This record gives sequence, structure tokens and C-alpha cells, in this order.
Amino acid sequence: MPKINLPIVNSTSHFFPLILNAMISIFILWLCAGEIKQEDVGLKPEMAFFSSNNPRRTPKITYLHIYECQQFSMGIFCLPPSGVIPLHNHPGMTVFSKLLFGTMHIKSYDWVVDLPPHMPTIVKPSSETEASDMRLAKVKVDADFNAPCDPSILYPAEGNMHWFTAVTACAVLDVLGPPYSDPDGRHCTYYQNFPFSSYSVDGLSIPEEERTAYEWLQEKEKPENLKVVVKMYSGPKIVEN
Ligand SMILES: [Fe+2]
Repeated sequence: MPKINLPIVNSTSHFFPLILNAMISIFILWLCAGEIKQEDVGLKPEMAFFSSNNPRRTPKITYLHIYECQQFSMGIFCLPPSGVIPLHNHPGMTVFSKLLFGTMHIKSYDWVVDLPPHMPTIVKPSSETEASDMRLAKVKVDADFNAPCDPSILYPAEGNMHWFTAVTACAVLDVLGPPYSDPDGRHCTYYQNFPFSSYSVDGLSIPEEERTAYEWLQEKEKPENLKVVVKMYSGPKIVEN
């Protein structure tokens, strides 16, 4: 089983500036974490984390916290079938997600930044309400993933907004570098998505055959039905201090 030895990860500090050292540390971490498999973390679909008591309610999600420092955080999301981690962002962060078992639908987006300047990509839905602006995004990934599969990685300016829907019970190892931090401006924002055709905007034209790849995203409060129970990971040791 791969073990992530943090002192070795940090041993480059004598030779590289701090920011480069952080990037190298995270890169090494991801290489190690990419090797972690279901059997290494002692999780099975039959465990209570992966069943929902009430089929009429949105399934509760469990987050098993493994480790956090200034440079990264690591944990495992356990989702029962139909469990959803709704559309959210990772400002200024790089995120590595590895499906350990199960089938997961992943949808991710990029902000649209490459249209000509006369085409608006941010619009106000109504001048009479306090509703947030709608911002144009392009779908980057919209597919089912079956474990074992390659990890998916999002970057500060690539695929930074995503949502997960569990097709079957699933476990996902998540590594965030750096972690969320409100004081440092890395706050998690949730979004509602709308089809491109929901709004017609003067001056904005997208070829008809490409329109399904575009959607409007609007900030919203954290969904009330999102229930994430945080527990400490207690399986086999995977991070050595
Ligand atoms: Fe995420």
C-alpha cells in the first residue's frame, strides 16, 4: 500500500523558493495519492456510510477527514446511490479527485473568457430583483466514471466548478491544494445552472449546434438539503507525519 511520507515531501525547502516548494510537494503528493486503491483505505460499499435510511430524502454524505496542513487537505467523500455534491467552485485551488469504487457522474465547467469583447458573458437576470448575476460557462466534462479510472484534476482556471452525482455507492479520495480558507479568500460558492437558451442576451451569439455546451451559472446559498457528516478517517494509515 502506498504511504505518503510528509517529511520527504517537504525536504525540498532548502533548494527551492516557498511557492515552488509547495507546488512540488503537492505534485509528489498527487503522484502518491494516485496509487491509493479501495483496499488501501478499508472501505466497502456494504458499509453504513454508503446506504441511505430514507429513500425519499436526499442521501446524507460522509466526509472522512484524513489530513490538513497549509498546503493541502485530504479526505474521502462517501456517497450512497443518488448522493449529490452540488455544483460548487474551488477558487485558486487545484483539486485531485480519485474514484476509489463505484460509478460517479461528474459535470464540470470553465468560465467563458474567450469571446469577443462586445459579447457579454455576465448578465443581470432582472433589474427588479436582487438576484445574483448570471455568468456564462462552458461544459468541460459531463460523463459517468467507473472505478478503477484515472483521477480527475481541476485547476484554478480549468474545470474549476464541478458537481458529483453518485450513480451507485461511491467513494472519492479528494486532495485540495491549497485547502478552502475564508481568511485567504478561498470560499466555497454554490451555483444553480440554467440552459443557454433560458436567457437571450443582446449581442451574444453562439452557433446553434454549440449551444448545449454552454450554460448560465448563478451563485446561490449552500443547498439546504446538502447534509455532509464529517468524521475522522480511521482506516489503515496512509499519511505519515
Ligand atoms: Fe469539489
